[in-house]
Amino acid sequence: MAFIIDGKAIANKVKAEVAEGSERLVREFGEEARPNMTLIEVGSDAVSKKLVGMKANDCEMTGIVPTVIALSESTTEEKLLRLIDRLNRDDDVRAILCQLPLPEHISTKKVLAAIAPEKDVDGFSARIDSDDYDVAACTPAAVMRMLRESGVEVAGKHCVVVGRSNIVGKPMAIQLLLNDATVTVCHSKTENIAEHTRRADVLIVAVGRAHFITGDMVKEGAVVIDVGMNYIDGRPTGDVDFASVEPKVSMITPVPGGVGPMTRAGLLVNALKLAERACERNK
Ligand code: GUN
Repeated sequence: MAFIIDGKAIANKVKAEVAEGSERLVREFGEEARPNMTLIEVGSDAVSKKLVGMKANDCEMTGIVPTVIALSESTTEEKLLRLIDRLNRDDDVRAILCQLPLPEHISTKKVLAAIAPEKDVDGFSARIDSDDYDVAACTPAAVMRMLRESGVEVAGKHCVVVGRSNIVGKPMAIQLLLNDATVTVCHSKTENIAEHTRRADVLIVAVGRAHFITGDMVKEGAVVIDVGMNYIDGRPTGDVDFASVEPKVSMITPVPGGVGPMTRAGLLVNALKLAERACERNK
């Protein structure tokens, strides 16, 4: 029987730390130092709206002031870029998040690049050529924290990442490398994926395909982290076929209740860090 890594419990611990950090900042520098987050949503996609609502609620629970700006589906790219420019210049705005996906007529790349790195709460602009990688992409940072909390040391281990998205796969590989892991990244063009996944001490899966990893694709005793969130008949399901994988491995994250709650907690961690840095700059 594998140890089930409880993302919700770890997320609660992280949220308590953030709430404490927010109050510490206010005690030290006054109410104007309180962390805040401006969340931009474009269009009326129900899932995105729900997620933005949950993120704003998380902020409120941890002493971070959220502001939601809801724009219509027909908003032009130019208008969105102008808004981001205004928020970038506004010294009272500490953190900016633009919820993805954006409507097709808007370039995600341009919009994300427009967010000032010192306000990029998603951590999408974290640079690998910088020693300062602590405002990192939330999902990979969440995975690293879950591994640490579960006593998994990645240094020297063979970690296999399945998926190469800009949001998860690529920054995940970098964060593992920065923690001295030996990293293999598999993707849709990789031949014989199972040959790679079977060699993983730590397997991290973010492909967006339900039950993609099955029991025959993992090594006995491996640690498996499932970043996937798919829906089958309205029920959330990961990228890992839990039923066949769990009996073989030493640790595994469930879906739901695994990486999901931790990713959102990672956003709060970043919001606090951005607010702390703003205080340091203004000292
Ligand atoms: N949409 C789905 N996941 C994310 C995320 O991590 N950040 C943003 N901004 N939008 C998302």
